[in-house]
Amino acid sequence: MTSWLTNTWYVAAWDTEVDTAPLSRTICGVPMLFYRRLDRRIVAMRDACPHRLLPLSLGIREGDSIRCKYHGLKLGPDGVAEEMPLANDPVNRSICVETFITHERHRFVWVWIGERERADPALIPDLWPCSHPDWVFDGDHYAIACDYRLMIDNLMDLTHETHVHSGSIGQPEIMEAPLTCRVDGDRVFLSRWMPDITPPPFWRDALRHDGPVDRWQICQFVLPSAVMIDVGVAPVAAGATLDSHDQGVRGMVVDFMTPETEESHHYFWGMARNFDIHDVGFTARLKRQQGGVFAEDRAVLEQQQASMRANPDLKLRAYSIDQGGVRARQIIARAIAAGKEGPP
Ligand code: FES
Ligand SMILES: [Fe+2]
Repeated sequence: MTSWLTNTWYVAAWDTEVDTAPLSRTICGVPMLFYRRLDRRIVAMRDACPHRLLPLSLGIREGDSIRCKYHGLKLGPDGVAEEMPLANDPVNRSICVETFITHERHRFVWVWIGERERADPALIPDLWPCSHPDWVFDGDHYAIACDYRLMIDNLMDLTHETHVHSGSIGQPEIMEAPLTCRVDGDRVFLSRWMPDITPPPFWRDALRHDGPVDRWQICQFVLPSAVMIDVGVAPVAAGATLDSHDQGVRGMVVDFMTPETEESHHYFWGMARNFDIHDVGFTARLKRQQGGVFAEDRAVLEQQQASMRANPDLKLRAYSIDQGGVRARQIIARAIAAGKEGPP
């Protein structure tokens, strides 16, 4: 029994990461390799040669095929043998490597984990800000040495910003604002409204306005392991509310956590925004800033995982600030127990 859902889509890579050279990445405990064919469609295979298990990602691309670096077995994009190591040996077409179903959407390459016949692209989580024409989106990937659920806990509890990100987006008002937690089917919403406060430097600069603002944070957990956080500020006089807040600057932090092993995951992070969307330089600066912020989370979470390993007799405790993560974990556990294939 794993800690993750199996019949579901996970993000395997950013669209920019998969190119003609093989990309090796372990997804949900399975070593995989990804590359693009000449027509740019994506091939996903088990990253192990069927002969002596050398990683195929070390191999050499030939057309749409890949040749193993050890003895030269050549496999087509369908995973089936095309040439044997000895040129005169007849090709044995029963020699093959496992392939996986992929789909590109929302700037990500998704891979289906589980029974192939259940792979329906309609089940890909709706990360709409990543591909909405009025929004711009960019981000990156971090390999993080902790259970993917610790990152979900982290993203569903933004009180940590005050301490972990004190130099950028943290501020004491985050600790003072009341929290509202709501569960809607397989989704969890955790909302925080901070009226009439001084914005932290990041948001003051984004708004280009010096003065009191209303600030909001609405964390949303989506099966199997996405968190989208609606964040932003608006001048107090603009009349923004929790339900309607396009008056100022609004961003959507989009995070997807793909399990690698039980104690490591791929963290795909990014930020979409609906302001200054054509400012390419700002997009690059924002991504650099975000990368710095999320590196602070990585440092804390890897230490947390190491501490959990060093203290196996101790349990994680949940206080009121943890309710979003607790609800998300309950939904994951229920879905695993029910054998569900992911979002409805
Ligand atoms: S290990 Fe790949 S051809 Fe021998
Ligand atoms: Fe953080």
